[in-house]
Amino acid sequence: MKIGVFDSGVGGLTVLSAMAKAFPSVEFLYVGDTARLPYGNKSTTTVRKYSEEIMDFLIGKKVDAIVIACNTASSQVRESQWKGIPTYNVIGPGAATAVKLTKTKRVGVLGTRTTIATESYSKAIKSIDSSIDVFSQSCPLLVPLAEEGWVNDPIADLVIQRYVKPLLDQNIDTLILGCTHYPLLKDAIQRLCGYEIRLVDSGLAIAQEIGTLVNGAAKAPAKSNQPLIHFFATDLSPHTQNIAEKILDPMKVVEFTEIKL
Ligand code: DGL
Repeated sequence: MKIGVFDSGVGGLTVLSAMAKAFPSVEFLYVGDTARLPYGNKSTTTVRKYSEEIMDFLIGKKVDAIVIACNTASSQVRESQWKGIPTYNVIGPGAATAVKLTKTKRVGVLGTRTTIATESYSKAIKSIDSSIDVFSQSCPLLVPLAEEGWVNDPIADLVIQRYVKPLLDQNIDTLILGCTHYPLLKDAIQRLCGYEIRLVDSGLAIAQEIGTLVNGAAKAPAKSNQPLIHFFATDLSPHTQNIAEKILDPMKVVEFTEIKL
């Protein structure tokens, strides 16, 4: 089985990593739209257009399913199929996990400007339980910090503190990392929020969601314990390659290829 996964950059590798660990017999084709990153400050029309181009590319590579490992793109592509191929977005599973975890019914969401402006998480949460209060915060500076690899750094700590304080002031007990870059900053976010706050990582949530699809497919025998991961990027710099290798370590990428969409 082949699963296509995409994001604006390397952040979606946090989702791919969770899926590849859970399903090592699956072949993964990852697209990072690094030439056009970030998506989080772009208009909804542009994000939708870029997402469609990437999904068409993945369909051309004959994938069996597509996982939109980007919350910003997920907020614009809500269909469960694209040209007949099952399509999964990260918002539904993240929202459902938060609803299960919250005890006080006060949930925070960190996301890009576009994700927060679409209110995708608060709508998804309220459609499950309308009595939950949702507090959202856009965090445009976190993606560049994650792409730069400054994940354990006093500058990252200062920026995170500034973003999470208004949510902590609302007495949330659960916080959704509503951008696939943020799990790279998870340790710092947890430390700054305090260990009693439950963090929701969409990568883990989607890995559970696609379990049914993968387990229902005819099993090709795993060629090794090492999942096959192909990495395509619209701009392939040594920096992107280096960060991708670090995020996926100890898993290896079988090919790095630059593509035009
Ligand atoms: N990782 C993407 C997300 O989950 C967005 C990053 C960006 O702004 O490009 O929303």
